This record gives sequence, structure tokens and C-alpha cells, in this order.
Amino acid sequence: MKSYPPLWLCFLVGFTQGQSDEAWATLNASVGGRLHAAMPFALPCYSLYNGARVEADEVACTLIRNNYTTNSIHAEAPNGYMQLQGEMCLGDPSDQCTLNNTALPASEPAPGVSCNQGSVPSYYIEVLEISDINAALNFTKDYQVPLVIKNSGHDYMTRNSQKGSLALWVHKLQGLTFHEDFAPEGCEGDSAGRAITAGTGVSTGDIHIFADKHQSTFVGGYSPTVAASGGWVQGGGHSVLSPVYGLGADRVVQFKIVTPDGRLRIANQCQHEDLFWALRGGGGGTFGVVLEATHRVEPSMPVAVANIRLPSDGTSERSLEWIELLANQSLVWGKQGWGGHAGGLYLTYMNPVPAMANLTDEGAAAKASMSAAAEFALAAGGSSVVEVLPSFLAVWNKYVLPSALTTAGVTRILATRLMPRKLFEDEAGIAKLMGFMVAAQKLGFDPRNFYCPIGTPFVFEHGTNSQLSKSSSLTSVNPAWYNALWDVSTSLTIPWNASYAERLQNLTAITRATILAEELTGTEGGTYPNEANPFTPNWRESWWGDNYAALLDIKKKYDPEGLLKCWKCVGFEDDDISSDRFRCQGKLQLDVSSNLELGS
Ligand SMILES: Cc1cc2nc3c(=O)[nH]c(=O)nc-3n(C[C@H](O)[C@H](O)[C@H](O)COP(=O)(O)OP(=O)(O)OC[C@H]3O[C@@H](n4cnc5c(N)ncnc54)[C@H](O)[C@@H]3O)c2cc1C
Ligand SMILES: *[C@@H]1O[C@H](CO)[C@@H](O)[C@H](O)[C@H]1NC(C)=O
Ligand SMILES: *[C@@H]1O[C@H](CO)[C@@H](O)[C@H](O)[C@H]1NC(C)=O
Ligand SMILES: *[C@@H]1O[C@H](CO)[C@@H](O)[C@H](O)[C@H]1NC(C)=O
Ligand SMILES: *[C@@H]1O[C@H](CO)[C@@H](O)[C@H](O)[C@H]1NC(C)=O
Ligand SMILES: *[C@@H]1O[C@H](CO)[C@@H](O)[C@H](O)[C@H]1NC(C)=O
Ligand SMILES: *[C@@H]1O[C@H](CO)[C@@H](O)[C@H](O)[C@H]1NC(C)=O
Ligand SMILES: *[C@@H]1O[C@H](CO)[C@@H](O)[C@H](O)[C@H]1NC(C)=O
Ligand SMILES: *[C@@H]1O[C@H](CO)[C@@H](O)[C@H](O)[C@H]1NC(C)=O
Repeated sequence: MKSYPPLWLCFLVGFTQGQSDEAWATLNASVGGRLHAAMPFALPCYSLYNGARVEADEVACTLIRNNYTTNSIHAEAPNGYMQLQGEMCLGDPSDQCTLNNTALPASEPAPGVSCNQGSVPSYYIEVLEISDINAALNFTKDYQVPLVIKNSGHDYMTRNSQKGSLALWVHKLQGLTFHEDFAPEGCEGDSAGRAITAGTGVSTGDIHIFADKHQSTFVGGYSPTVAASGGWVQGGGHSVLSPVYGLGADRVVQFKIVTPDGRLRIANQCQHEDLFWALRGGGGGTFGVVLEATHRVEPSMPVAVANIRLPSDGTSERSLEWIELLANQSLVWGKQGWGGHAGGLYLTYMNPVPAMANLTDEGAAAKASMSAAAEFALAAGGSSVVEVLPSFLAVWNKYVLPSALTTAGVTRILATRLMPRKLFEDEAGIAKLMGFMVAAQKLGFDPRNFYCPIGTPFVFEHGTNSQLSKSSSLTSVNPAWYNALWDVSTSLTIPWNASYAERLQNLTAITRATILAEELTGTEGGTYPNEANPFTPNWRESWWGDNYAALLDIKKKYDPEGLLKCWKCVGFEDDDISSDRFRCQGKLQLDVSSNLELGS
């Protein structure tokens, strides 16, 4: 058995000020004993914790080492973060508790190395009741302890944890309900059609299975463990089916939420419309604690798939040619309804449009549409499969799950930029795009690692496609989404044991690439906050464009005391960068910014 340190040690490491043991005990009593000290995920592998001796737990450690990159064990755990930047203190390499992730099983820590708390909260509450949330809000108000919301832990942006905080762990809110004809509460006579209500903790994979049982298709993200009614939908939520059916934020018809004043509210097109708008793209962790969301679903349908791959040992030059080919084709593909993921050496695209997803002719039109890409790959010694499967779940099981289950345990930083359709309309635009690829390559981003989700609502008719009568498909995402074709991602993985200087070098490089991408698109582009570089300088405009000012007003209305605050969320202030609360990001941000000014 692991011997946990006494409560006083948590105070020392947690930097929580002003509360006594008694206050925590009172909080614990008011949440039915579901307040727990939060420990770093890999602690069972260590025999030092925050500098004090503890006993390692070999059985638990073996499971963690074998499954260090497995999403589900992180997603299910109150202290599990998919990306290491969620648990380490990114700006202080000694303040972390990670394992060497360069091979599996992840190796044991070197003797004498301490597992340190990093940005893992001091305590968490396993949320089962609304009163748990109220108790936490009261506690935050009384003792100024930062409050954070932790769901699946997928966040790239360090918004799901904070050093010294109290976390609301909402993963246990797991209800699923199917509605043949959903009526948003209080909207007399209005119907949203077929829909699924999912508790905020329900994983995307579980919703796909549930939808299929009800002969329906859920328009959801690519990772089975992402919480669709959590940060995904609140940040926008793209899917491979979004080009035809819209973003998660376009499709959600109702939220149940506890706002920071402690009130349970329904937000939909007839009640708290401002809040409803803000929750459809304004970002998680900002406007309250969402309990559940109701998403429109489509009938079950066949889906065409194209899985085209170049040999994995291709050169960077070959990869640049491939990306140019994808860019050449993409306006036509966009109009035809293809979504999916493009890579430097592959594409995996999907299309639900009946003319493409035609089981009778075995996808003849889909094959014709993909012929240039298939020929290119085959000529290079690669492979091509274009086929039609009877349902999205069949596509999910065959094409998504095999590669989507083990992406955890790394410090992956994404920098995405929405690329307006204009860039794909003529040779000059494509030349500019390719110029960006070459410039990014010079900064250290090999085109073979190019990655681009194709999930913008390109065919979907924003504002008119809803079955609801009013303007219910108007969202608060950056308006650039509705005019973009690609969401180009320049990414890197910071080595688990990188020094401060190495982290700063990597983050400076990716921020330079972020700025290059901004220059390429100007304000016609934008950035998806759920898949953004946390060190982006110009974040308000990048994440939300002209919507920021209205989002800030709504934030101030529902959270006047600023009880919920996260890194570069609506309401985050420039002063917060140098605050103690955000010191795990702040010093790096200041150093990245000064590197950029110095041009070094
Ligand atoms: C491997 C991988 C694949 C991905 N694929 C896609 C994809 O295909 N499409 C896409 O759009 N995105 C994708 N994402 C990005 C994903 O949408 C974001 O990481 C998102 O923030 C995850 O939300 P979460 O609630 O699951 O995670 P968490 O990290 O637990 O939470 C994320 C943010 O939302 C807040 N939050 C969570 N639950 C609530 C709640 N109930 N109430 C209020 N705030 C809440 C948290 O406080 C935090 O700020 C992917 C991410 C990863 C790591
Ligand atoms: C809260 O109470 C429960 C049940 O009494 C106990 O198991 C748990 O350790 C307590 N939490 C803390 C942080 O003391
Ligand atoms: C962890 O790894 C072991 C061995 O590799 C495997 O048998 C087990 O199923 C994994 N557990 C989880 C929860 O993924
Ligand atoms: C990490 O693991 C790899 C592969 O097992 C090994 O080669 C390397 O030396 C390890 N690094 C450290 C710092 O332990
Ligand atoms: C929170 O505080 C309010 C006002 O003081 C009080 O009425 C309410 O009962 C408290 N809720 C919980 C769960 O502690
Ligand atoms: C892309 O289109 C341009 C202009 O038609 C053409 O010159 C170029 O060869 C094409 N690239 C690829 C890789 O097909
Ligand atoms: C599917 O293919 C069959 C056979 O070619 C054709 O008759 C039918 O019209 C096609 N359906 C659609 C929706 O294009
Ligand atoms: C990280 O580990 C690698 C070996 O895996 C080693 O070469 C490197 O020096 C280490 N970096 C730091 C900063 O310790
Ligand atoms: C990131 O840093 C590592 C060393 O820590 C280095 O090998 C790699 O090239 C860097 N990548 C970029 C894109 O800067």
C-alpha cells in the first residue's frame, strides 16, 4: 500500500493560503467525503514525493508504465492528464512527476529523483451532486483557492489544471438519453428533432455506440476519450463530419449548467440565450460548470472513406509535393463534403454525402474524386483504399480506433490556424500556402509531420441549416471557421526531460510558426482554442475574432467575481501572465515574447 503524506504536507506543496485543516474538513463533509488530495499520476513509481520519502507501489507502477501512452487510463483518473503539460509545471523542469516516455513500458525514474506536484491541483472533488459544485464555489469565494474543472484531461492548453487549486472532477456525470424529437425546455412548440443528451463526463466513443444503437449518427471528435459535452463542444468541437453537418457548437441545442453564482440554469435558444451563445465556442472552464449538453444527431447513414498512404520512409520533398497535391484538390473536395485528416504522408478522409457514400455502386464517385491522390501514392509505392461502409460506427471501429487509443503521456503542443478558402482558389494562394510550409520547415517543422484536421463547416449552411426556427446555429466561435477549408497544425513534442532552455527553444520556434501562420491568413484566418499554441501572443483575436468583446461581457455578467479563471480563457488578463497563480506558464511566456522581440 502507498502511504500518503499527511494533510499538512499538501498545504506546504499546494500553496493554498488561509484555509485551515478544519475548513477543508468542513468542505469534505459538505461533499459527502468526496474531497481528496490530488497526487501526480506517476507517483506510485516514485519513492520521493515533494522531497519526502514515500513507498513506491510496484503493482500500480507496472500498470502505469505499461499503459503510459494509453488514453483511457488517464481519461478515467481524477489526476490523469492526456498531455504532460496538464500535470507538469512547464516553466520549471524540476517540478514534475513524469516517466521517460521514449519507449514502452516507460522506464522507472532514476533513484533520488522526486515526484513533484507540478500543476496538479492540491485537492479534487468527485462531483456527483449539484451541491458539490455549490460547496466548491463557496469555498473558492471564502478562501480564494483557485477552482478548476477537470473532465477527460485532453486539453492542450493547460486549462484543466492549476497549481494550488481545487479541482472539480466531473467525469462521473455519465448519463445518456436519446430523444426522438427533442423539445428545448421553455421553447413552446419548437422542436430540435432527433437528439442525444450526454452528461458532461461521457466520452465520444460511448456516444457513438449509443447513437448507433438508436440508428443515429453523432457528429463528434476523433478521439474516443474526448468529453463531447465538456471542453470539446464549449470550444467549438470539430468532427470529420463537420464539413457537411457543422461543428459541435452548431449542433448543440441545450446546456444544463451551474453558473458561478451557484444557480442551476438551462441555456438554450429561449432561456439565457446570451449564455447559450457563449457556451457555443467561448471555451470550457469559463462560464460555469456544465452538467450535460443535448446534441442533435442525424439518422444512421453509410459513409465513404479514403485511406491513402505514402511509404513511411518518404522524403520531406515528397511530402511537400503531396501537400501541394492536397491543396490543389481541396476546394473541389471541400465542396463535395470530404472531411478527415491530412498528414504529411497520408490522408484519411470521410464523406457522408449520399452521392459519394453510395453502397450500390461501391463508392464510384468517391473513388473518382480521390483518383489523383491515389495515383500519386501508388506511384510512390504507397497504398490506397477507398470504400463505403454502412455506418459511421463501422468507419469509427475500422479506421479511427486503431490509431486513436494511445496518444497520451507526451508534451504535445499544437499550433493551428484556420486557412480561408481564398488561399485554395488559385495558384497564387496555393503558392503562398506552400511558402508557409517551407518557412515552417526552416524553423524545424518537417513537412512529413504536417497535420491538418479537415473539419470546418464548409458545406454546412451556418445559420440556416438548423431545424430550430430562431438563430440557434449562431455560435461564438471565431467567424473564420465558416469560411475556412483547412485547420493547419504545426506541432511539436517537447521531450519529457527537456531542460528549461530546451523548452524555451521549442516554444519560441512554435510561436514563430504561429506568427507566420497568422501573417499568411491575416484576420480572415483564426485559431481553434482547443488546439492552439498556449503561448500565442495575440490570443483574444486569434481564438474569437470580433466575438471577444461580447464574450467578455457575458463572462462578467455570469461570473462577476471571476471565480473561474484559466490560461487565455475569456476574462484572463495580461496581468495574470506574471501572477503567481500562472507561474508554470508565465515565465515561459515572458521569455518567449522577449525572444521574439529580440529576434533570437
Ligand atoms: C488526442 C486528442 C484528439 C483530439 N481530437 C479532437 C477532435 O477531433 N476535434 C476537436 O474539436 N477537438 C479535438 N481535441 C481537442 C479537444 O477538443 C480539447 O482537448 C478539449 O479541451 C477537451 O475537452 P475535455 O472536456 O474532454 O478535456 P479537459 O481537459 O478535461 O477539459 C478541457 C477544458 O474544458 C473545461 N471543461 C471540461 N468539462 C467542463 C464542464 N463540464 N464545464 C465547464 N468546463 C469544462 C476544462 O476546465 C478545460 O478548460 C483532441 C485532443 C486530443 C488530446
Ligand atoms: C474526506 O472524507 C473521506 C471520508 O471520510 C476520507 O476518506 C477522505 O480522506 C477525506 N478527504 C480528505 C482530503 O481528508
Ligand atoms: C495495461 O497494460 C497491461 C499490459 O501491457 C494490459 O494487459 C492492461 O490491459 C493495460 N491496462 C489498461 C487499463 O489499459
Ligand atoms: C529513456 O528511455 C530510453 C529508451 O528506453 C533510453 O534510451 C534513455 O536513456 C532513457 N533516458 C533517461 C534520461 O533515462
Ligand atoms: C453556499 O453558500 C450559500 C450562501 O452562503 C448557502 O446558502 C449555501 O447553502 C452554500 N452551499 C453549500 C453547498 O455549501
Ligand atoms: C498543383 O497545381 C499546379 C497548378 O495547376 C501544378 O503546377 C502542380 O504541378 C500541381 N501539384 C501537384 C503536386 O499536383
Ligand atoms: C448510387 O448508385 C446507383 C448505381 O449506380 C445509382 O442508381 C444511384 O442513383 C446512386 N445513388 C446516389 C444517391 O447517387
Ligand atoms: C534527456 O534524456 C536524454 C536520453 O534519453 C539525454 O540524452 C538528455 O541529455 C536528457 N536531457 C536532459 C536535459 O537531462
Ligand atoms: C525541440 O527541442 C528538442 C530538444 O529538446 C530538439 O531536438 C528539437 O529539434 C526541437 N524542435 C523544434 C521544432 O524546435
